[in-house]
Amino acid sequence: MRIDVLTIFPELFDPFLACGMVERARAAGALEVHVTDVRAFTSDRHHSVDDRPYGGGPGMVFKPEPVFRALEILLGPELKAIERQESKTRLLVMCPQGERLEQGQLDRWSGAERLVVLCGRYEGFDERILEAFPWCRVSIGDYVLSGGEIPAMAVIEGVSRLLPGVLGDPRSAERDSFASEWGESQYDHPHFTRPPTYRGREIPEVLRSGDHEKIEAWRQSKRAERAT
Ligand code: ADE
Repeated sequence: MRIDVLTIFPELFDPFLACGMVERARAAGALEVHVTDVRAFTSDRHHSVDDRPYGGGPGMVFKPEPVFRALEILLGPELKAIERQESKTRLLVMCPQGERLEQGQLDRWSGAERLVVLCGRYEGFDERILEAFPWCRVSIGDYVLSGGEIPAMAVIEGVSRLLPGVLGDPRSAERDSFASEWGESQYDHPHFTRPPTYRGREIPEVLRSGDHEKIEAWRQSKRAERAT
């Protein structure tokens, strides 16, 4: 899969892309991430990506030109196919007004050929950016960050671990909290590892019983407890 990130802070992504699961996905050839500085698509002397809002009011608004030009140059004729919904590329825009990010969306996007992820800054985008393209508007929760970069990282991290060949043990993704076979509202059960007693705290005896049916029943009951 290829992910294009459009941002005015490309350097924020350097350490993120060099670590952990995302780095592993890239090294395995399952993921390619291209981070593009939207400022490169400005045409004025000051490389401005924002401007004052029509009608007055506080804050600055993301200008349409750099985003339109970035999409046109990055995607070429593919952009028209995306507009006709005839493409396996998905356009995501990170904004607090978007649909709340859920596992089901990550599952679906992990099957796309390419994602283009636009990170906002300032008070918001010029509405024409949002109107002109078939964006999935994505929020990571009902709070306002100063930009969409951290939300974009949440998407990249969530998608990359689902790509084939990335997780050491693919059963991990299947058994995670929110895995679809458990239904949307279920959480993972508690986990324990060695030592069996740590600072006076014992692991549940059932986990050492070797009785797999009993262990599964215990896990199921713990998941049900957490769902309530
Ligand atoms: N940009 C600013 N806040 C955000 C949020 N909560 N989710 C997605 N993008 C954002």
